[in-house]
Amino acid sequence: MLWVTTTSSTQSSASATPPETPVGTIASDWNSLNEIFNAKYTSGDPLASARQKALLEIPPRPFGAYTEDVQCGSKVYLGSGAWSDVVRGTLAVDNEKVVVAIKMPCYPDGYEILRDEAKILSYITSAGSRESIVGFLGFDSLNAAILMECVAGTTLGQYCRRRKAERRGTRSEPVTGLTEWLYVAKQLTDSFVHLKSIGVVHGDVTWNNILMKEIRTESGFRNTPVVIDFSSGHLEVQGYRPAAVSATTTAFCSPELLEAHIRGPITPPQSPTDKSRAQNDPRPIPTYASDLYGLAMTLLSAAIGTEVYENAGRYAGIYARQGQPLDWVRNGDACLIVGVRSVVSKTLNGCFGRVAEKRIEVEELRDRLGGFIESAT
Ligand SMILES: Nc1ncnc2c1ncn2[C@@H]1O[C@H](COP(=O)(O)OP(=O)(O)OP(=O)(O)O)[C@@H](O)[C@H]1O
Ligand SMILES: [Mg+2]
Repeated sequence: MLWVTTTSSTQSSASATPPETPVGTIASDWNSLNEIFNAKYTSGDPLASARQKALLEIPPRPFGAYTEDVQCGSKVYLGSGAWSDVVRGTLAVDNEKVVVAIKMPCYPDGYEILRDEAKILSYITSAGSRESIVGFLGFDSLNAAILMECVAGTTLGQYCRRRKAERRGTRSEPVTGLTEWLYVAKQLTDSFVHLKSIGVVHGDVTWNNILMKEIRTESGFRNTPVVIDFSSGHLEVQGYRPAAVSATTTAFCSPELLEAHIRGPITPPQSPTDKSRAQNDPRPIPTYASDLYGLAMTLLSAAIGTEVYENAGRYAGIYARQGQPLDWVRNGDACLIVGVRSVVSKTLNGCFGRVAEKRIEVEELRDRLGGFIESAT
């Protein structure tokens, strides 16, 4: 979920400086949902039909009974946000027990948000899940609980901050070393190319919404990124206007979405038949271009081991709105990592800027990374 924060804590950006009441996103436009319902599944494109269907249906239930784990009389918290808590649990499938992460609302208003997130996760699973996108294991509509694969590991933010603190190598390379940075960047970029190809906008791409999962390889272990938290996302469906943005994670947010937040909270429709708000409201919703911006900010932060505007204090919002993070970093302590001829700079050039239409596409970022990885091996 998007939040108003200047910088995020190492634990969780969502809880860094939460507003007094959760602002989140405004419920989706039910007028357009009605239109979609009336149109039924008319599209010839099977994925588009699957998105329409996912939008209108309650997400599937878990395949078995689940319980929340209890240790020393308390739930086992994996994380918490403004709308939700994530706890560890156990899902019984046939005779097997699977460790799961359970995301559930901590406010009544969170129900709709989690149900919509479950629809997106369910659709992603049906369209072809990937190891680098968190696995969906069902939605308990009674408690609005999303069951997911439990990813044991830290967020990418925590991981990179630790790597910065432990850094031994050259100061001109990313804090993880160039090889690992390229690997993480390629894995993540492939995930976002995939999400775009199946019509999913994430909406809140930050290093706090990426978990680093330890996987076994032939030569030992490797940390690989997994994308989580689709609570600000939406499915691309013709005629459907998803929720507008009313809050942002400043440190990773594209300038156009930031503007949307700064211009104040959106006014929701006055009645179920009131179409005027949705049609006249000029505020943008997250797009593939804003996802690319968030992804590039995530990769830049991962390279330098801090959030980009962390030292900018109360001016962070102003710099964030200018949308030129590479210039900002070049004037700071991490300047060697983002020199104009560095791989980090050459990779991320064109991903930023105030004008969304002038940014490169995520596919081009993927191809660039492929080229750098090939020439490094
Ligand atoms: N599948 C998972 N496995 C392990 N830990 C998880 C998983 N999903 C979430 N978490 C933990 O819970 C934290 C919060 O989850 P998430 O990012 O989905 O929601 P949020 O941003 O806190 O909540 P909201 O969207 O309601 O504001 C994550 O940063 C992570 O530490
Ligand atoms: Mg989150």
